[in-house]
Amino acid sequence: MFDEATLNRLAGEFFAALPGSPQSALDFSSPKPPVDPGIAQRAPSLTPSATTQTGVPDVVNQSAPALGRGGNPVLGVPEAYAAALPQISSPPSRAPTPDLPTGISPPTSPYYFLGESSAYPSALPAQQDVPIDDRVSAQSFGLPGAAELKALLSTDRIAQPAAPQAQSGNQSFYFLDAQSSNDKSIPALAPGAHPPFDVNAVRRDFPILQERVNGRPLIWFDNAATTHKPQSVIDRLVYFYAHENSNIHRAAHELAARATDAYEGARNKVARFLGAGSADEIVFVRGATEAINLVAKSWGKQNIKAGDEIIVSLLEHHANIVPWQQLAAETGAKIRVIPVDDSGQILLEEYRRLLNDRTKLVAITQVSNALGTVTPVKEIIDLAHRQGACVLVDGAQAVSHMRVNVQALDADFYVFSGHKVFGPTGIGVVYGKSAILESMPPWQGGGNMIVDVTFERIQYQDAPARFEAGTGNIADAVGLGAAIDYVERIGLENIARYEHDLLVYATQALKTIPGLRLIGTAADKASVASFVLNGYSNEEVGKALNQEGVAVRTGHHCAQPILRRFSLENTVRPSLAFYNTCQEVDVMISVLLRLRGNRR
Ligand code: ALA
Repeated sequence: MFDEATLNRLAGEFFAALPGSPQSALDFSSPKPPVDPGIAQRAPSLTPSATTQTGVPDVVNQSAPALGRGGNPVLGVPEAYAAALPQISSPPSRAPTPDLPTGISPPTSPYYFLGESSAYPSALPAQQDVPIDDRVSAQSFGLPGAAELKALLSTDRIAQPAAPQAQSGNQSFYFLDAQSSNDKSIPALAPGAHPPFDVNAVRRDFPILQERVNGRPLIWFDNAATTHKPQSVIDRLVYFYAHENSNIHRAAHELAARATDAYEGARNKVARFLGAGSADEIVFVRGATEAINLVAKSWGKQNIKAGDEIIVSLLEHHANIVPWQQLAAETGAKIRVIPVDDSGQILLEEYRRLLNDRTKLVAITQVSNALGTVTPVKEIIDLAHRQGACVLVDGAQAVSHMRVNVQALDADFYVFSGHKVFGPTGIGVVYGKSAILESMPPWQGGGNMIVDVTFERIQYQDAPARFEAGTGNIADAVGLGAAIDYVERIGLENIARYEHDLLVYATQALKTIPGLRLIGTAADKASVASFVLNGYSNEEVGKALNQEGVAVRTGHHCAQPILRRFSLENTVRPSLAFYNTCQEVDVMISVLLRLRGNRR
């Protein structure tokens, strides 16, 4: 009856005449613009779904990714997008594990998070300078510089630790000064590896930052408790369950190979992230707490005897106190505690006095979760090693704020939790020097960690499998790998510099509030600005902030000994991450000023 052209024309007129059509199908008075269905479908996604407090449109999922996020959240990311992303070099795969079937090759995939079958490169990359245009300038945010923070904080300090040396001109970034810039063995950024830091672009990578709480935009200042997840981590978890889900190492099928490859790829990424000598030095556990328990129950039981001494600092989280106390109670060892000064920095002289030939272990945090103090961990390790003691570094609060290199630190053990570095909960890491891990007995028994079992005899796998009994948290390990990719694309140096400026800004602003006492004023600090406010309980302050959408932790922060050092049982603890802004700090300050104004 009708030819194809006529049918097309009639269909076009019919759809154009539907309600809501901008132009009647029967109105030929002006020519119709050509319709691009692709653009028409995309158009709604260009409308901002929310606005940041900076006034910059903040669009979830649709706008240009900050640094590598993008794509369909369910199905992954198209090939063209993946091809445009920065590539991580992919050396040949690790040798297959004994029960990985031969003949199964890792999947090739267009998805942006792959490339994780790469073996860990054993050699550290050559030292390269960070290009100046890759840096975040304190001044570009209109903020005071580091020197001002140090001067400001020094008014609160009684004993002042030696100030770190400035590295270049009048710029002084204490994270880098303290942790890496002096150490030529620490790998630095390749020139041009990271685009300049743009907080609004970063914010678009975190969908939860679009949430509203009590009708206000969410302001997440509880980053020391847990961090939010970029879209790339969420995508990676979805992709794992949609395309790779299997148990690892055991089955003679394709998905087992994919899951194994993804899991071992994540181990490689963690090894590279920490600057480990080999992926075999990385053990996956549930989190930093389980990591410390593993070391206490394996290495500790093997090496600590009655009369031995374990040194911890007063800054420690309960997770780095309780397992050692339990071990001491079982073995008859003694716990010795490094005191801190009034700024919350550990007293190195006191530490030197505590060290002796009975010292078998020093367990020390790199960043205090309650105060934010960055401890002189390299010096602590060197001094311990001179006494022949091992050192465990709790990096739970450090890895999201500064570059860590376990070989440069010469740490014997280094532990952290994935969820504090923008990865999933339920996954964490023990780094252990390979000779030490190989000498340690397993701490849990079961499948996956054995070579051979009879009723007479058990032969264990080498590390790390020896310490990973049973089915581990495969998907979340893979998610942690994606989180590491994310922070590395932004660059730890960029993150450290931006957060430094933000902490300066928040500290300055908090100090303007009458009756507010900052708890923790060390010269070297990361992320945390604990305080108490006269006339208010910490809970009242927390609730008032929550009314305005601001999330802070109030309580003892699982670090009661250090708070009691300041005659406190708890504090209000805002803790910052690189997706926070000065405008968010301003909202917090305005709530505190209002509270202050209500009670003089
Ligand atoms: N360790 C976490 C904190 O400091 C839970 O809040």
